Amino acid sequence: MAFINEHYLKLKAGYLFPEIGRRVKEYAQAHPDKKIIRMGIGDVTQPLVPAVIKAFHEGVEEMASAATFKGYDGAGLGYDFLREAIAKNDYQSRGVDIVTDDIFISDGSKCDTGNIQEIFGHDNKIAICDPVYPVYADTTVMSGKTGICMANGYFEGIIYMPCTEANGFVPELPKQRPDLIFLCFPNNPTGTITTKEVLKKWVDYAIANKSVILYDAAYEAYITDPSIPHSIYEVEGAKKVAIEFRSFSKTAGFTGTRCAFTVIPSEVVAYDSKGQAYPVKPLWMRRHTTKFNGVSYPVQKAAAAIYTEQGKKEVKEVINYYLENARIMTKSLTEAGYKVFGGVNAPYVWVKTKNGLKSWDFFDKLLHEVNVVGTPGSGFGPSGEGYFRFSAFADRNNVLEAMERIKKLVF
Ligand SMILES: Cc1ncc(COP(=O)(O)O)c(C=O)c1O
Repeated sequence: MAFINEHYLKLKAGYLFPEIGRRVKEYAQAHPDKKIIRMGIGDVTQPLVPAVIKAFHEGVEEMASAATFKGYDGAGLGYDFLREAIAKNDYQSRGVDIVTDDIFISDGSKCDTGNIQEIFGHDNKIAICDPVYPVYADTTVMSGKTGICMANGYFEGIIYMPCTEANGFVPELPKQRPDLIFLCFPNNPTGTITTKEVLKKWVDYAIANKSVILYDAAYEAYITDPSIPHSIYEVEGAKKVAIEFRSFSKTAGFTGTRCAFTVIPSEVVAYDSKGQAYPVKPLWMRRHTTKFNGVSYPVQKAAAAIYTEQGKKEVKEVINYYLENARIMTKSLTEAGYKVFGGVNAPYVWVKTKNGLKSWDFFDKLLHEVNVVGTPGSGFGPSGEGYFRFSAFADRNNVLEAMERIKKLVF
C-alpha cells in the first residue's frame, strides 16, 4: 500500500490564485460583454528586452551545431559566465564580497525558497511574516514541521511575525527563538522596503541565536533609492547567517523563461544534534547536484545578457515602466480616499479597503461593480485581512482605466 504525505492534507484547499481564477471565470462567463482588467497575479506583462532576445537566439543557434552544442551544464550549478556576471554586477560592484562559488543557478526562486528547508533538520522552528508570500508557509507545512491550521489561520508550530500598519509592515524580532527566519524585501505582498539598520538588527539577532536568515530579494531590481540595501550582504555579519534568493522573473521578465539563483556564502553554518557547526553550502551543493540538472544553456545565455551595458539599460526601462504604474496607482488610489502603502521601490501597492470591508468582499465589489481584479490581502495571511494588493505588472492603459473605474466605486 502506498501512503500519502499526510502533511499535505493540512494545507488549505482553496489556494489563493485558483480561487481568484474561479471567481473571475464565473463572473466572465455570466457577463461576456464586460472587459475585466486583471491586476491580481504578480506576473509580468512586458516582453523580454531585445538584448535578452538576441542572446537567447544566439544560444539556440549554438545548440544547432556540433561545434558549439551544449549538453548538461556540468554539475548543474550554472555556467561560469552567468555566475561570474552575477558576482561582479550584483555584489562586487556594491562592495559585497560574494564569489562565483557562492552562487547556484536554478529555474526559480519559488523552488529554491521552497526546497531550502530540506538541508535543515526537521526540528527547526521557522519564523515567517504575516502576511507572506505563501510558499514559505506551505512548504513548511509540507515538510511536516507544523501541526494543523488553527481557527485563526495560523499553523501550529510556525512562529508568525505580524506585519501591520502599527509596525509599518516590518516584522518585529520574535519573542520565541526561531532557527530559520524568512524575510522578503522589497516585500510581496505589502511593497514594504527595509533599511540597513533594520537588517543589521536581524543579522545581529541571527548571530546571537545561531539562526539562519532566508532572505528573499526577488524584487531588489525595483529599488531606486540608493540608501536602501539590494542585498542582505550589504550588512556587516550577514555572510555568516544569511542565504539570499534572487530571481530574473521580475527583474527581467523571466517568469515564463525561468532563471534564478541562490547565494550561500561559505561562512553560513548550521549545527548537528551535538552542537557541532557545519557549513550549509556543501549541503545545498549536494542537494542541487542530486535533484537538479541545470537551467538550459540558451536561458542562461539570455540571463547573462541583462548584465551587458545594453541589457542593463533595456531592463531598467521596463522596471521604470512598472514603477511608473505603481506611482500612478498610488496617486490615484490616494486621491480616491484609500490608505495606500508600498508602491515605491516595489512593484506592489498595498491598500486598506474602505468602510472596514473584508478583503474578499472588496474583491467581489471590485470585480462585480468595476470589473477590476486584484488580490485579497487575507489570502497572504490573517494580518492581511482588510487589505488588498494591486500589482504594477500591468499594461499602462489598463492601469489608467482601472484607476478611473475604481474612483467611481460607491460605498
Ligand atoms: C517573494 C517572491 N519570491 C519568489 C518568487 C518566485 O519567483 P520565481 O519566478 O523565480 O520562481 C515570487 C514570485 O512571485 C515572489 O513574489
